[in-house]
Amino acid sequence: MSESKPSVLVVCLGNICRSPIGEAVLKHVAKERGLDLTVDSAGTSNYHIGEDPDDRSVAICRKFKVPIKHSARQVQADDFRKFTHILAADEANLRNLNRVKPRDATAEVRLWGSYLDNEPIADPYYGGMASIWFYSCKKDFEEVYHQCVKLSNAFLDEVVGKSTQGVE
Ligand code: 4NP
Repeated sequence: MSESKPSVLVVCLGNICRSPIGEAVLKHVAKERGLDLTVDSAGTSNYHIGEDPDDRSVAICRKFKVPIKHSARQVQADDFRKFTHILAADEANLRNLNRVKPRDATAEVRLWGSYLDNEPIADPYYGGMASIWFYSCKKDFEEVYHQCVKLSNAFLDEVVGKSTQGVE
């Protein structure tokens, strides 16, 4: 269990789909547990800097009444000194994080899934074939949301302790 207040950066590629959902869900779950936690998100790429979360990310959070508000940004060297934990959505982003990690990094950089089942959060940005694109993406975003709820609880169980109440 950590002594200092944890501060968490959730990281994916574009910072418009998975990590803004992860940020919103982790904030929500921590609040429901009565925890004081700093949570932000960022992308390893610069593709969408300044953009709002994807409409499908907003829709899924709205469905479960979880507030989501973020402006996409790229991970910076200072993030590795500022945050206690940096959580990568998948292995490719974990590799990219380790590539840009400064020598004096203090953050623990891990696959978010390593707190539960070692599974990555699959990229939902591109769906399947064009004709079913919208529907397959909707399903993918719903899966991302539920995975973020499970991963938020697993992360808080390990880092803050199991003594607080979980959220379904
Ligand atoms: P995210 O999804 O990494 O979950 O935000 C993506 C968003 C945009 C792109 C790829 C993944 N893109 O290639 O533009």
